[in-house]
Amino acid sequence: MKKILFVTSEAHPLIKTGGLADVCGSLPKALTELLQDIRLILPNYQALKASENVRFLTSIRIDNRNINILETLMPDSQVIVWLVDYPAYYNYPGNPYVDEQGEPWSNNAERFGLFCRIVTEVAMNRINQDWQPDVVHCNDWQSGLVPAFLSLEEGRPSTVFTIHNMAYQGLFPLTSASVLNLPGQLWHPAGLEFHGMLSFIKGGLVYSDYITTVSPTYALEIQTAEFGYGLEGLLEHRKEFLGGIINGIDLDQWDPEKDPNIFQCYSAKTLGKKLLNKTALQAKLGLPIEEHIPLFGLIGRLVEQKGIDLLLDCFSEMITMKLQFVLLGSGDKVFEKQLQEFAELYPDKIAIKIGYDEALAHLIEAGADAFLMPSRFEPCGLNQMYSQRYGTVPIVRKTGGLADTVIDALPETLGNQTATGIVFNEASPSALLEAIKRTLILYSMPDSWKKIQVNAMGKDFSWQRSAKQYLELYQKL
Ligand code: ADP
Ligand code: GLC
Repeated sequence: MKKILFVTSEAHPLIKTGGLADVCGSLPKALTELLQDIRLILPNYQALKASENVRFLTSIRIDNRNINILETLMPDSQVIVWLVDYPAYYNYPGNPYVDEQGEPWSNNAERFGLFCRIVTEVAMNRINQDWQPDVVHCNDWQSGLVPAFLSLEEGRPSTVFTIHNMAYQGLFPLTSASVLNLPGQLWHPAGLEFHGMLSFIKGGLVYSDYITTVSPTYALEIQTAEFGYGLEGLLEHRKEFLGGIINGIDLDQWDPEKDPNIFQCYSAKTLGKKLLNKTALQAKLGLPIEEHIPLFGLIGRLVEQKGIDLLLDCFSEMITMKLQFVLLGSGDKVFEKQLQEFAELYPDKIAIKIGYDEALAHLIEAGADAFLMPSRFEPCGLNQMYSQRYGTVPIVRKTGGLADTVIDALPETLGNQTATGIVFNEASPSALLEAIKRTLILYSMPDSWKKIQVNAMGKDFSWQRSAKQYLELYQKL
């Protein structure tokens, strides 16, 4: 049995802005099921939805500040959660990273710098709990300084750093390094410095014992200039200690046979009932109720990564086709506005919901016929896996985890029952349009369409296999 300290800035259902939360909510559960002794640690944000059972665990003093650590359990699981409670940094409304205007909190370096300091104390068993982890598993830049701090400690645990997205690096002005009182040994270009800035992610990339990312393809992509954002050389240099482990999905949350958020539960054997979710979704979003018009869905952060601009460029042609489209998301205000303008012009074809809505996300997965993910890059992506599980055919660009989890419908893969979606190569509006046209053709051939749905629903995306891979890694370290 390994003692694992799992470090993250979000974990569903406590707090979520994206896929990081899904993974950090469900991987610790899967590791607990593999009988590992795990503690999940995250900041105690105001928006955090903990149960009533939160108790004071201990307090520590750092830089003349008193910081409490609280303990609770992950809802519906046995995973122990430790919350770093420092109200001056974490107890304000809104998102963990940005304010209501979408601007990063001005003290993010201090907020996550302090979090990393506390995690280091916990990792070194200096909080009077008689619990020293064997492995500290950090996720994304918010926890990046932990491997760096630990590298200076005697008798430290092993460290793993998982990259969920190279586009977010936690870069801060030089002055932050002194505000955070960083040890001088870490402050150089082969350490935490990146072109005169302080880089949190470099803490993970340089100092962790092993780096993982969330798909094998993305592990290769980030070693190239296109996806490495200037850190490809460092990653190439560390490639012996870098690997890709594909994410799983939480089948307690995402299972069409027992999903409380959808209108009608169904399985591969009762696929006909899926239609009731489609009509419920059309009714809910004010689209004409049309059983036979293919309904395309998209859920996600409205940012360039997700190829929203490619989609916008396709809209004027899409509205000439026999289809409907629903989108749920929020993010870039320009994208939000453009999407809403199209929806106002073509209310019979396009429905746009700006905002964050967990229940509606489930209904879209169940009700749509096809699901669009034209991502420019996608470290793993979860919605294409949820879609397959729900018999909703994913249309994805061949990148990162999308390339690793969707099998393109071609004569051969249709023949040998492996096709699970539509895959296209180029990040261009014309390639996306081609893929949409291909989808319409397949949709018009009910036998082929059903084959893809059934193949997709039969795929095993559970955490078991991936959690075992993480465990093997912990054991190897
Ligand atoms: P990323 O982490 O890059 O945002 P993923 O595909 O890994 O992308 O995960 C996104 C997760 O966030 C999925 O669970 C998706 O359903 C959810 N999600 C994204 N935007 C919204 C939204 N507006 N409302 C509800 N859920 C959302
Ligand atoms: C990131 C990536 C996404 C991935 C998620 C969880 O936010 O953008 O592709 O699925 O992390 O690993």
